[in-house]
Amino acid sequence: MAKFLTMDDFNFENKTALVRVDFNSNIDPQTKKILEAPRIRSHGETTIKELVQKGAKVVILAHQGRPGDPDFAPLKQHAEILSKVLGKPVQYVDDLFGEKAQNAIRQLKRGEILVLENVRTYPDELKKGTPEEHAKSEFVQKLAPLADVFVSDAFAAAHRAQISIVGFTAVLPSIAGRIMERELKALTKAVENPEKPCVYILGGAKADDALKISQYVLKNNIADHVLTGGVVGHLFLAAKGVNLGKPNMDFLQKKELTGFVPGIKALIQEYPERIQTPIDVAVEVGKKRKEISVKQLPTEHPIFDIGTETIAKYSKIIKNAKSIVFSGPVGVFENDEFATGTRKIFEAIATSKAYSLIGGGDTVSAAEKFSFAKKMSYVSTAGGALIEFLMGEKLPGVVALEKAATRKL
Ligand code: 3PG
Repeated sequence: MAKFLTMDDFNFENKTALVRVDFNSNIDPQTKKILEAPRIRSHGETTIKELVQKGAKVVILAHQGRPGDPDFAPLKQHAEILSKVLGKPVQYVDDLFGEKAQNAIRQLKRGEILVLENVRTYPDELKKGTPEEHAKSEFVQKLAPLADVFVSDAFAAAHRAQISIVGFTAVLPSIAGRIMERELKALTKAVENPEKPCVYILGGAKADDALKISQYVLKNNIADHVLTGGVVGHLFLAAKGVNLGKPNMDFLQKKELTGFVPGIKALIQEYPERIQTPIDVAVEVGKKRKEISVKQLPTEHPIFDIGTETIAKYSKIIKNAKSIVFSGPVGVFENDEFATGTRKIFEAIATSKAYSLIGGGDTVSAAEKFSFAKKMSYVSTAGGALIEFLMGEKLPGVVALEKAATRKL
């Protein structure tokens, strides 16, 4: 587990805390309204609430979308939602580090909260750099002198070597917020030293990520079994030489996934017993679900889920597991006809005695839709950062915190 300082190591009384959170939320592209705000709730109910209780002056840094994308938006709404979560006023200023923002920070009183403008309005924010390089930016140079401490809480963005994630750690005492601490604890448990047998269930459409995760967890003896489903399952089947039929092969081609076949093939050859692929699938015929065995492939119909026999086989493996990581639904769960696979996998995890960690936007939405979220041991708020962690990558935001911990507060 990474070694960093936490909120227990700093006296926040009357101190100005610059807090980097991840408020990035789903936004309606037309109305620009926030659709759901689980991340704002998580940071609000933990780190921010505790900072207020401990007498800090809280200055919040966050991003929403990327310039040019439909979900790129100011943080005014985020501040309003945070105010509802905390049940107290939250100020917002449409400025990041100019006079307006600086004055608002200077005027903050003990226990007050200020949300600054979307950090990605600053063009250099999206550039990669080291903490030392980023510390020279105008953004850090203008804000750091006004703060006493940097609280790094945006685990979900910790895979970005951006100014607001790493820059302040070079010049301010820097500690992990409660979300950062919680995520790292839970993920370390599932990745660094999982209880055996350990099962990884990889579905969804990000087959390149699934390949890298499988390589890492198999080669390092982290996972005893990798169960595949969704588009990932299709690609693993294709790597075994199964012809899935035109619509399904065309889909893999269109998504530019076939290039990963050689890598997957080599991995399956190396770990034939530990990688599981579907033995039957559900296809869509006239809008209805029809199950066929993999032996019956190719099919002229699109494959949208794993079949009953695969569910039974996977459930048996899950039942004996002591730790489970599930990322990426195994079927098109948004369509009721094809939700069975994903729902049954959740059911198997929930009834097992294993430590279970789920993550990724679609997986968490599916868990909520089928009321399984509360039955999982840990639900990660992260997407890309979680994937990189599962691949064994070092996250720049975490590395920066570790480095800062070697300096005196
Ligand atoms: C996320 O939503 O995964 C994080 O906020 C990171 O966002 P990004 O991929 O735009 O950097």
